[in-house]
Amino acid sequence: MTHKPSGFNSKLVHGAGAKDPMGSVITPIYQTSTFAFKSADHGAACFAGESDGYIYTRIGNPTIRDLEKTIALLENGYDGIGCSSGMGAINTVYMSYLGAGKHIVSHNAVYGPSRGIIENTFHRFGVESSYVDTTDLEQVKAAIKPNTALIYIESPANPTIGISDIPAICALAHQHKIPVCVDNTFCSPYLQKPLVLGADIVLHSLTKFLNGHADIVGGIIITKTETDYKKVRSMMVSLGCNMDPHQAFLTRRGLKTLAIRIDRAQENAIKVAEFLESHPKVDWIMYPGLVSHPQYELGKKMMSGPGSMISFGLKGGLEAGKKLMDNVELCVLAVSLGGIETLIQHPASMTHSKLSAVAKKEGGISDELVRLSVGIEEAEDIIGDLEQALAKI
Ligand SMILES: Cc1ncc(COP(=O)(O)O)c(C=O)c1O
Repeated sequence: MTHKPSGFNSKLVHGAGAKDPMGSVITPIYQTSTFAFKSADHGAACFAGESDGYIYTRIGNPTIRDLEKTIALLENGYDGIGCSSGMGAINTVYMSYLGAGKHIVSHNAVYGPSRGIIENTFHRFGVESSYVDTTDLEQVKAAIKPNTALIYIESPANPTIGISDIPAICALAHQHKIPVCVDNTFCSPYLQKPLVLGADIVLHSLTKFLNGHADIVGGIIITKTETDYKKVRSMMVSLGCNMDPHQAFLTRRGLKTLAIRIDRAQENAIKVAEFLESHPKVDWIMYPGLVSHPQYELGKKMMSGPGSMISFGLKGGLEAGKKLMDNVELCVLAVSLGGIETLIQHPASMTHSKLSAVAKKEGGISDELVRLSVGIEEAEDIIGDLEQALAKI
C-alpha cells in the first residue's frame, strides 16, 4: 500500500495489516494449542527468538497477534499483549513491576478488584501501597517514596468518573524514574491516548468498549517501549493468563465499529446526563461532558469526547437508588460497561463490594452512587425508561 491509512476508522477496519496466507479477508480463528515446526532447526530458531514462527498459543497465536498489533497501533504503542481478562492484564503489570519492598501509588477510586488484589494479596508478599486521590497532583507528589516502583491510575476512574492529570502525573513520575500505567478502559484509544500523554503502559479490559458486545472477557496491555514489552510479555507467558483465539477473533470483529459505537453512545450520554442533571430527584451527577464536572477543562484537554459513563446519586440515597434499579425496564441491571446496551449498577454493593469500608469512603464510592453505561439505543427510549423508573421513587 503506497498510502498508509491514518484515519482512526481506517485503522479500526484494516488493523495492522495482517495478511492471512490463505487470503482470508478476516483473520481466522487459529484454534490450536501448538504449531508444527518445519524442522528441528526451525523449532530451535523459534525458541531462540531468531524466527517469527509460532510455538504454542500461551506464547503467541496469529489471531491474538492481529488484535495485539491493531490495538498497539490505535494506542500509538510499541506492541500489545493480549490477556485472559482485564484483571489478567492488571495483575501481569503488577507482577512485572512490583515485588517485596516495592511500593505502588494508585488512585483511591480505581476499579475495586485492582485495589483489592494489592491490599488483600500483594501486601502478603511485602508490596506496599498508597491509595490517594490522584485527581489532586499534590497527593500523588506526597505519596511517592524512594521505593515507589509503579504509579497506576485510571482516568476517568471507575466508578467516580474523577479525571487525573495524566501528563502532569507522568512528568512527576519520570523525574523519579517511576513508570506510569493507565487503565484506559473507560475511554478507549478513540477518546484518549495515554501513551501520547506521557504514560509508559496502557491497559484495557477488552470486555468493555473495545469488544463492545458484552460477549467476551479479555484484556490487553500496550507498552511504549520494546524493553517494557519484552518484560511484560514474558511475565504474561509465565503467568499463563493468555487470551484465547476465539476471544481475540470476536474482539477484533467488535473493534471495527468502536468509533461508530462510541460516537452514538456518547451522543446519547450527553442527552441522558442533561436529563439527569435537571431532574428534581437527582442529588448530584458526575459526567465529563457537563461543566459541573470538577475536572471538566482537564477532561477536554486529554479526551476528544466525554464518553458514555455517568455516575449519579439520588436524593433519598441508597433506598432511592435501589428503587430506580428495580424499576428500569430497558436499562439492564448488570455490572460491566461499554457494550451496545445501556447497563445500570450499584458499585458499593456490586463491583466494589469487596473493598473495606475505609477504602470505599476514601475512594468516594458512596452508598447512593449509581453507575450508568449508556448504550446505543434511541436516547428518547433510555431517558423515557429512567423517567418512568424515577417517577416510582
Ligand atoms: C476500569 C476497569 N478496569 C479493569 C476491569 C477488569 O476487567 P475484566 O472484568 O475484564 O477482568 C474492569 C471491569 O469492570 C474495569 O471497569
